[in-house]
Amino acid sequence: MKDTVAFGVIGCGLMGREFASASLRWLHLQGSIPRPRIIAACDTLEENLNWFRRNPDTRFFYRDYHEMLSNPEIEAVYCAVPHHLHAAVYCDVIRSGKHLLGEKPFGMDRAAFLEIEKAAAERPDVLVRCTSEFPYYPAVQQMAAWYREGKFGRIIEGKFSIRHSSDMDIHKPINWKRTLAANGAYGCMGDLGIHVQHLPFRLGMNPRTVNAVLANLVTERPDARTGEMRPCETWDNALLLCEGQNLSGDRFPMTFEMKRMAPGCSNTVEYGIYGMDLSARFTTDDPNALYYTVSHGQTQAWARLPVGQKTLYPVITGGIFEFGFPDSLLQMFAAFISELKGLPCAFPCFTPEEAKKSHELLTAALMAYEQGRTVTLPPDGPDRSSAG
Ligand SMILES: NC(=O)c1ccc[n+]([C@@H]2O[C@H](COP(=O)([O-])OP(=O)(O)OC[C@H]3O[C@@H](n4cnc5c(N)ncnc54)[C@H](O)[C@@H]3O)[C@@H](O)[C@H]2O)c1
Repeated sequence: MKDTVAFGVIGCGLMGREFASASLRWLHLQGSIPRPRIIAACDTLEENLNWFRRNPDTRFFYRDYHEMLSNPEIEAVYCAVPHHLHAAVYCDVIRSGKHLLGEKPFGMDRAAFLEIEKAAAERPDVLVRCTSEFPYYPAVQQMAAWYREGKFGRIIEGKFSIRHSSDMDIHKPINWKRTLAANGAYGCMGDLGIHVQHLPFRLGMNPRTVNAVLANLVTERPDARTGEMRPCETWDNALLLCEGQNLSGDRFPMTFEMKRMAPGCSNTVEYGIYGMDLSARFTTDDPNALYYTVSHGQTQAWARLPVGQKTLYPVITGGIFEFGFPDSLLQMFAAFISELKGLPCAFPCFTPEEAKKSHELLTAALMAYEQGRTVTLPPDGPDRSSAG
């Protein structure tokens, strides 16, 4: 087996650079997973392409991604572009026969996702996956293992949230995430939704119904160039209350909280699964630990289990040291390449089937909020028949 996979990156902004950094940190992983070698970078902005000139692996630079896709040396593509470009770029990547790791929400809306799904169906030889790194925290992996072992008993409740505060500065200039044209009607739900859905969907905890409260809290922001105020058209915060059902048939309240404006948070991801026999919760505020209940007769106490670097893919870091955000990305990219190369992969990246569920949920949430009602999610999608 070759010891590298030749990658192209489309979108050399925040996330494109994270991937470049992870690709150069591959030594960190033990074992012999082929390293992603980013031989090509593509961005419409010269300054962002220039950043990639510092990457010793990168030899090809493009302003037009179509040109990049005709480079036969490239085997796989990581795409991190604004949401309105997902459908066109992802479909073109797939149809060019290159494997795709695309950023969330994997299509700006459900219609865009369906285009990507169609392209993927035409090329079953191409691996198509969506990013989502937080389940790769070792404490979350421990939670998933306990769930799969049936340790929680009958499920009482599931709570999945991401709260960040990057928009609390009301003078922060507007960016594409605050426009309907580039971010889509989902607003913060498109941006943040998959972070809260990957774990429950993978464990078979699925929403059956959804109610939604959405909030646009800062309705205008300055333009970075002109200083003029421009409308912020997308939702800042979203709270979804669902009835969930798991593969054992338990029904339980399930909440998905996605907030860009959460005072006191940084990028706080929290997962909680509460059961009759065991409850557990994880927060990135204490990334080294998993909290779980210990029962004493009819009472329960919360215990803190330090997990450390008990990673899905072993690393050189000592087991007692803390795990962080770049580590979760490294594990996620390792999962993508392992799956691509047919190596063991106990927790694959978010799949197109799961992305479809995500779009069904978010489309139903918009409908629920607009119509002020509970929307039922049948197994094959929201009840559009009554949507009017
Ligand atoms: N996984 C995560 O934790 C995470 C975090 C933030 C963003 N994201 C996702 O990553 C994606 C990109 O977000 P970002 O924050 O990196 O945005 P960004 O604005 O920092 O980067 C996007 C880049 O795409 C480039 N671009 C725009 N049009 C292009 C085109 N036609 N061809 C090539 N490049 C083009 C822009 O110039 C920019 O450099 C989004 O889907 C977003 O939801 C994921």
